[in-house]
Amino acid sequence: MKLGFIGTGVISDAVIRGLLSTDYSVSEIIVSTRGRMFSQKLTADFEIVRAEDDNQAIMDSADMVFLAIRPQDAQKVLTGLKAGPETQIVSLIATIPIETLQGWISGGASFDRAIPLPAVAHCNCVTAVYPGSDNVIALFDKLGGAVAADTIDAFDGYAAGSALMATYFEILENAAQWMVAQGSDYTDARRYLAALFSGLSDNTLKSPDQSFAELVDGHATPGGLNEQVAQTFIREKGGAALHTALDDVFARIKAASGDN
Ligand SMILES: NC(=O)c1ccc[n+]([C@@H]2O[C@H](COP(=O)([O-])OP(=O)(O)OC[C@H]3O[C@@H](n4cnc5c(N)ncnc54)[C@H](OP(=O)(O)O)[C@@H]3O)[C@@H](O)[C@H]2O)c1
Repeated sequence: MKLGFIGTGVISDAVIRGLLSTDYSVSEIIVSTRGRMFSQKLTADFEIVRAEDDNQAIMDSADMVFLAIRPQDAQKVLTGLKAGPETQIVSLIATIPIETLQGWISGGASFDRAIPLPAVAHCNCVTAVYPGSDNVIALFDKLGGAVAADTIDAFDGYAAGSALMATYFEILENAAQWMVAQGSDYTDARRYLAALFSGLSDNTLKSPDQSFAELVDGHATPGGLNEQVAQTFIREKGGAALHTALDDVFARIKAASGDN
């Protein structure tokens, strides 16, 4: 398998470094010279990676080509490129629909979209893909796993879900600051909460048959402290705020997809 990357930035770098740490079978990786900082480092670090100035040459050489340019650059960069039916294209570009990409890139290639997150570099991140071609799922399986969305709404739902990262840290920062107000050292509170939440994530991954609701029950002794905090969260409309935030970001994704 030969892989190509048009747009060598943060996320291409993470995908490539992750893949090259696995037994994924790849004979060559061709990256666009732009962005130069990442392409220079990748070609220096790995013999199997070479840089190419001409994006059409990347399309012509690779079996699977990742599109990883910024959405605002996409039309200019991609319009006029050709890729035959034997080429699998994987667009990582946020919000741009497959139909729009097909209007820019002629030749009958297969298209998938994917939302890898930077943790793919460490092969511990599940990537949402749509529609989920077998060869694309097989690749992301090596990087921590893949979930194939059946519909574009489900795929955009994953994109909205991926926007919860900053909120996760907002919860931790608020909790740490509250503990500091009770007299704790910030570094100690940070360490304590990071280990607590990391442990919860580990347990969640180790019990895939339990729903989150069952995990709530399992961590809320009747009349206990956890149950009390969870009830306050619900009473103060924490869940409703989360739904509103997800609805709003989903609407933004849909509007941006329509604009392209
Ligand atoms: N970062 C994430 O966590 C993440 C996750 C999922 C999806 N995505 C999506 O992936 C895409 C890339 O994101 P990113 O964070 O990796 O962005 P990035 O670091 O800005 O990388 C984009 C790269 O595209 C290059 N580029 C610009 N014009 C080009 C051209 N004509 N030919 C080839 N390459 C060109 C840029 O090079 P120059 O530096 O020379 O301009 C830049 O290095 C975006 O559409 C984003 O929505 C990102």
